[in-house]
Parts: sequence; structure tokens; C-alpha cells
Amino acid sequence: MQASAQAQPNIALVKYWGKRDHVLNLPAVGSLSLTLDSLWTRMSVSFEDIEHDVLEVNGADATAMLPRVSRCLDLVAGEERRRARIISESNFPIAAGLASSASAFAALVVAANEAAETGHGTRQLARLAGAASGSAARSVFGGFVQLTPGDAAIEVEQLARADDWPLQVIVALTNEDQKPIGSSEAMMRSEKSSPFYQRWIEAQALDLGAARDALFDRNFAVLSGVCEHNCLKMHSLTWTSRPPVVYWNAATVSCLETVRTLQAKGHGVFFTMDAGPQVKAVCLPESAAVAKAALEQTPGVIRVMSSGLGDGARVLKD
Ligand code: DP6
Repeated sequence: MQASAQAQPNIALVKYWGKRDHVLNLPAVGSLSLTLDSLWTRMSVSFEDIEHDVLEVNGADATAMLPRVSRCLDLVAGEERRRARIISESNFPIAAGLASSASAFAALVVAANEAAETGHGTRQLARLAGAASGSAARSVFGGFVQLTPGDAAIEVEQLARADDWPLQVIVALTNEDQKPIGSSEAMMRSEKSSPFYQRWIEAQALDLGAARDALFDRNFAVLSGVCEHNCLKMHSLTWTSRPPVVYWNAATVSCLETVRTLQAKGHGVFFTMDAGPQVKAVCLPESAAVAKAALEQTPGVIRVMSSGLGDGARVLKD
């Protein structure tokens, strides 16, 4: 009754922001992402005869996160399941806008499914991960992944494998602290108060279609334009919420300037940011080294991580 799984975070190219159903955690819009390779979360789940679930994250007791994790285990293994000892380990900062909840819940559902021998298929596991954290549904799959919301459930599909278009992602860390406001709460604020929210919802299908076409055509220039536009729209929603949510800091803006300078010199690179101040530079393979060096030298950048694209969540055999 014990199993371990690994999943990597994913970077949203076309963003999920807003929910159509808060109870089921159904996204209001479709999204498209890249699953990374070298950042990971490993999750061990052991169902035992203990009184309560126990969660350890990176060597420390993590009681605050436990209710969400327990609910997710209930969905995978049923509410009558035995209690679980869960041990989570990540090789990158958590809750800092680097999609740690995506890799964590994707790894959790896969480990729990194996440990409890519940036999859910991959699409169902993606739905269960998504019920815990919308973006986690995408980390169940590798490469380029699309999430489509339905009225009662989501559909998640792999559009292309990691090695079909081996893009590189440089992550510029500008602040390693936990973000002041989580994405669920910030989304809710945008839904309620941003004057642009309705327009965001209406325009998303257009961005998704354009990004998909660019992916199928391997057209990096078109993909860059759509993804930067979609990212800036998402952040416009947070800026125009009441009270506003500004995830960026001065170094975030400096990184955007670095990317613009690289683009002006003809390099294949574009930026995207999620619910945090880190900048992810998506690069053509031949532009990755120069983008990494430029971001390392950008004022305010603490450190830089690089990753290729990777596979979906999977069981770890020792
Ligand atoms: C900005 O998946 O963290 O990263 O479903 O409330 O857990 P919950 O939200 P979450 O939101 C991710 C928001 C985003 C964009 C994205 O990943 O698509």
C-alpha cells in the first residue's frame, strides 16, 4: 500500500485564470502548457493504520497544506480509505509562482492511485489532479498539453510530445519567498472585480486556437506573440482587480526588458509569468544559452534555472 511518483511543473503558455465552478474547481477557460523536465516533485503515499493523514514537505511537517491533500486522496481512493503518510520533496522553491502545486498534485494522484490500486486511467487522474489544482491536470501529461473545460469535467490531452519540438525554458528567480496571495484567491478577486474579466473569457478561444496552430506549424514567432499577449492579459486582470494583485517586482520588469533586447537581436525567446514574480523565458534551443546568460546578468535576478521539456507524471520504481 505504498507507492512513489514524480511529476514536473508545467508552464502555461495560454493561461488558466478564472473558474466556472468553485466547488468542482472547473476552469472558466481552456489553457495550453509545456511540461518541464529538470524541475520535479516526488511524492510518496503510504496507506497505513494510523489515525490521521500526515504530510511532510521537504523534510518539515506541513499541516497547513494537509486538508487539500487529504481531499485529493479521498477523490482518488474514496473517503473510506485508510489514512495516509505522505512525503513530498521538490528540487525548486514551492508556492513562489513556479507551479509547485501542479507537480505536487499530479504526483500525488499518480502515487495514490498506485498505492491504493484504484486503477484510474490517465485522463481520469488528470481530472482528479485538476479538482485539487486546475493546472495540476496538465502535469499528468508531458510535452505540450491542452486543457479544455466542459460543463461537468475537464478534458486534458497531449498535443505534442516533448521531443517533437524541444524548446528550452529558462526560469529567472527574482524572489524565492512564498507569494503573498495564492492563485485561487487572486482568480476569485479578478472574477468579481476586474472590468476586463468578461472580455478575457470571450477572447480565450482565439488565443488558444492561435497557439495550437503555431505549435502544429512549429511557428515560434507566432507562438511568442500569442503567449506574451495572453500572459499580459492575465496579469492585467490581477492589476485591475480590487484590491489589486501585482505579482511582479522591479526585477520582473527588468527581465522583460532583457527578453525584448534579445528579441531585437533576433533571438528566439519570449517571456511568460504566472502567479508570482519569476520570469520564464521560453527559447528555441539555439537561443537558450544566450538567454540564460542575459537573464543571469539582469539586475535583481537571484538565480536562473534551465529546463527542457519533459514527460508526464509517472510511478517511480525504486
Ligand atoms: C497563473 O492551478 O494554481 O499558473 O486551481 O486554484 O489551484 P487552482 O489554481 P492554479 O492556477 C494556475 C494559474 C496560473 C496559470 C496556469 O497555470 O494556467
